[in-house]
Amino acid sequence: MIERKNMGRASPLLLILLVLGFFFATYNLITLVIHNRRLNLWVRNDGGIEMLTDPIIEIPEHLKRLKGGREPFHVALTATDAPYSKWQCRIMYYWYKKQKELPGSDFGGFTRILHSGRSDDLMEEIPTFVVDPLPAGIDRGYIVLNRPWAFVQWLVKAPIKEDYILMAEPDHIFLRPLPNLALGGLPAAFPFFYIKPADHENIVRKFYPEDRGPVTNVDPIGNSPVIIKKEILAKIAPTWMNVSLKMKEDPETDKTFGWVLEMYAYAIASALHGVKHILQKDFMLQPPWDLTTKDKYILHYTYGCDYNKKGELTYGKIGEWRFDKRSHLRGPPPKNLTMPPPGVPESVVTLVSMVNEATANIPNWDKK
Ligand SMILES: *[C@@H]1O[C@H](CO)[C@@H](O)[C@H](O)[C@H]1NC(C)=O
Ligand SMILES: *[C@@H]1O[C@H](CO)[C@@H](O)[C@H](O)[C@H]1NC(C)=O
Repeated sequence: MIERKNMGRASPLLLILLVLGFFFATYNLITLVIHNRRLNLWVRNDGGIEMLTDPIIEIPEHLKRLKGGREPFHVALTATDAPYSKWQCRIMYYWYKKQKELPGSDFGGFTRILHSGRSDDLMEEIPTFVVDPLPAGIDRGYIVLNRPWAFVQWLVKAPIKEDYILMAEPDHIFLRPLPNLALGGLPAAFPFFYIKPADHENIVRKFYPEDRGPVTNVDPIGNSPVIIKKEILAKIAPTWMNVSLKMKEDPETDKTFGWVLEMYAYAIASALHGVKHILQKDFMLQPPWDLTTKDKYILHYTYGCDYNKKGELTYGKIGEWRFDKRSHLRGPPPKNLTMPPPGVPESVVTLVSMVNEATANIPNWDKK
């Protein structure tokens, strides 16, 4: 009797425990599935930029734990010895040095990978590694084809202390200390609205055959800015070089992709290696289209900024006030550029102030 009574009491308790345990397991399973689906969403990015909101918040805990502690990345800046490239590199390096010292930065070392094949007069000012350009004629006047070849050589020849690399360009300005946005084997990249692999399926398929998977495996990115594990980049870089050369040789591809050909080449090469990127919208902003630098890491001044005296954008038409890197092809911009008129977006004001601060402080600014 007593035994039966005890068993009778124990049973519901056991049942409750079992049910609770079951719920807990299911909950964990569901959470895991949801996290993974979210991860696929922003990693795969088949729906455009809107759904890429705040990927940092959605990074699953089990991936966050992969990070554990500070993992510095090496800043690799591909450049030439043209005056136009040089002044941009000097401003870029100035802001790297400044932000590196601030808390929250995962900046490691810095290398200007100079793909002109010979040293120049910035060797003392900026840590530089000289690599060979492509053999004459191969780039067909498209200088950036040298980038993948530069990375291939640098990764093989240079001793690099850090496990991660940030691929950067001369017209980047670091707005704040940049953390390592990559997560273990998942590199981080900036999604460009004009890189649309799915819209060019017939071309992409020439280099990314159907048996490799859907075209949506190709991320809407270029090689820069990207933070990536060195060992992964070392695998991608030779393929990136091959794909970009093959694309340039194919008249249809060359015509369709034009100046963004080399960006597609990186996106396709990484997809060929099964590498997906975290699409990090906050990585970069591009004035004059992006109006504020709030929460962004890199300012990319690739577009000209033209405004009238009322502070209205006159894009495509030379403004009464303008800042355009292409106005300074043969030498550095002067110190103390005139600030834009009132009404111009904060992003453009910040750009000019940061250029002015750099040119005021870099020794011998006008002499190189
Ligand atoms: C690049 O192309 C060359 C010549 O076609 C080939 O020998 C080499 O294996 C290719 N390398 C990669 C990584 O695709
Ligand atoms: C920069 O130019 C402004 C006028 O545009 C002038 O008032 C200011 O003194 C200049 N600053 C320096 C450091 O030359």
